[in-house]
Order: sequence, then structure tokens, then C-alpha cells
Amino acid sequence: SRQWRGVIEEYRDRLPVAEGTPVVTLREGGTPLVPAQVVSERTGCEVYLKVEGANPTGSFKDRGMTMAITLAKQAGARAVICASTGNTSASAAAYAVRAGMVCAVLVPQGKVALGKMGQALVHGSRILQVDGNFDDCLTLARGLSEKYPVALVNSVNPMRIEGQKTAAFEIVDMLGDAPDIHVLPVGNAGNITAYWKGYREYAADGPATHTPRMWGYQASGAAPIVRGEPVKDPTTIATAIRIGNPASWEPAERARDESGGLIDAVTDRQILSAYRLLAASEGVFVEPASAASVAGLLKAAEQGLLDPGQRVVCTVTGNGLKDPEWAVAGAPRPITVPVDADAAAERLGLA
Ligand code: F0G
Repeated sequence: SRQWRGVIEEYRDRLPVAEGTPVVTLREGGTPLVPAQVVSERTGCEVYLKVEGANPTGSFKDRGMTMAITLAKQAGARAVICASTGNTSASAAAYAVRAGMVCAVLVPQGKVALGKMGQALVHGSRILQVDGNFDDCLTLARGLSEKYPVALVNSVNPMRIEGQKTAAFEIVDMLGDAPDIHVLPVGNAGNITAYWKGYREYAADGPATHTPRMWGYQASGAAPIVRGEPVKDPTTIATAIRIGNPASWEPAERARDESGGLIDAVTDRQILSAYRLLAASEGVFVEPASAASVAGLLKAAEQGLLDPGQRVVCTVTGNGLKDPEWAVAGAPRPITVPVDADAAAERLGLA
């Protein structure tokens, strides 16, 4: 048996990386495709979770970051910059360390989960908290990358999309064909764009016989694509997707329309309910934004949009450990016991 080599080496023939280019990798990708037993029962479909929290920095961003940083390094960049709601910055910070580069990150003040902030800090990135939201951070990062010698590694960098499309390849490679429907959370809309590119390439070249319908879900307080106009002050507990003016808006609409799919919104209440269901019934701990995919699928089931037996993949984009606040909030406090078996047994209801 051999170790998974990371998405560039595993899919080199499908990525724009020249032979001999030194690869910056943490062996990202190769993530589990887990059958979702309870969600399958509830929807009458064959549902799988693509567990992207199993990536090296705990989110799908690593797939795109290995590409963006590899090519930035090759082009001679000494520093990279990104705007982020937390996961992009965590990933950029780690890959910049591997590449021996400086990493600067711009984050919306007070709206980044603690675990993600800890990652950017411990990897030694230079963090600026911006008095604004993610959209403001991205405007600033773009401006800086145009005026100063620093490479932008947000998903407006096409190499990010190239790397992230490998998740679609992995799914087809594991299932033997594309699913009927692919569901994912939508924030800046790079990931839905990347999956659609991956599925289209695999359908054009043979590994898949068809492409799936792409179903994207935004948080209802941050749902510009659903509303058809930018949201000035986006709000949601799912801070990762708290975005009012997605950079990949048009490509996301193309993914929706060309695939016969949809982009809809789910409420914070629906997101948290799916978040708890995944943890308590499937054993999969994701961050709140990630649960938007499953929340969306459950909503679609209630709306009668699913046919029995359809094969569905939900991407769960980030690890629950990044943002444990919602796991702890409202949960019963652990009971303290003395070092005594009888007392412990009684408290556990065993006695
Ligand atoms: N889920 C998680 C956990 C995310 O971190 C993001 C985006 C998304 C979903 C949405 O993906 O932007 O490609 O539509 N996070 C970015 C960041 C914005 O800065 O980490 P998208």
C-alpha cells in the first residue's frame, strides 16, 4: 500500500502544473466519502457525505491552496495575501510555511471562529482585522495584490478552482460515476464553480457518463444569489459563509443553470438543526457553515424535490473543531463526580 500523495500528484494529468514544478503539499485530498445512514433514511435517497474537514488544515481550501501556492512559488512570489472568513487564511498560512513564504491575511473583525484564528496565528501569518465584512476584506486584498508584490490566493485566483475541482474527481472515482445531485454550501461561490468544472471535465473525458445537478445553499441572512442582489450587511451564525457579494457569482449561476440545479437559502435554525443531526446521528462533526448542504437537502426533501433512490453527495466543507462554540452552547454541563465507581455508575444510570 502507498500513501496518498496529495491532489497535484494524484491528478497531475488534469491540472496545469508543468513537469518538474516543485509541489507544495500537505497531502491534501483523498478525503472520506461516508454513507449518511440517517439522512438517507429521512430523504429516501442514497446520501453520502464528502468529509472535507479531514483535510490537513481541516477544510476543502487545502485542495486549492496546494495549487495556488505551488504556482505562486514557481512564479517567484515571496508573499501571498488573502481575504478570509477563516478557513482560507488557515490554509494559506500553513501552505505558506511549507513554501517558505510570508502570508498576510485580512479578516472581518470579530467574525472569525477562534480555531481558525488560532491556525493563522500559530502558522505565523500576519493578520489584519478589518473594520468591515468579508467583501470589504476581499476588495482590500485585491487592491493590495495589484499595487504590491504579493500574490492573491483567494478563489478569484483560477489555480484555486483547479485544485478544488479534484473533489469531484475523487467522488466519481469512488462511486464509479457522478451522483444524480451534488449539494454544497455557497459563500464566495468558488467551490460550486470548482466542482462543476471537475464534473464537466470527467463527463467530457469518460470517467463519468453524466454530470450531477448542482444544488447550492446560502444562509438566509447572507443569500445574495438567491435574492438576486448583493447583501450589504450579511448576517448568519455560519460565519464561514457570511458573504454579501460573492466573487464567483456568475460562474455559480452558470453551474446552477447548466446542470439543471438550484441555489436556495436555509435559515440559521435549519443549519444548526442539520449540524446537530450530523454530529448526533452520523458521527460527523462539521462546522456550522458545512451543515448548510445537509440542511438544504432536508429542505428539498420536504419540498418534494427528490425522487426515491437518487444518489446524492453532500460536501461538508470544514471540521467542527474549528468552531466548537455551537457544540457547547445549550448543551448540558458535564457532571463532576468523586473518584468512586459506585458514584460514577449511579450518575451514568448504570447502578
Ligand atoms: N464552507 C466553509 C467551511 C467555508 O469556509 C467556505 C468559504 C464555504 C463553505 C463556502 O465556499 O466560498 O467557495 O462558496 N470560506 C471562505 C474563507 C470564504 O475565507 O474561508 P465558497
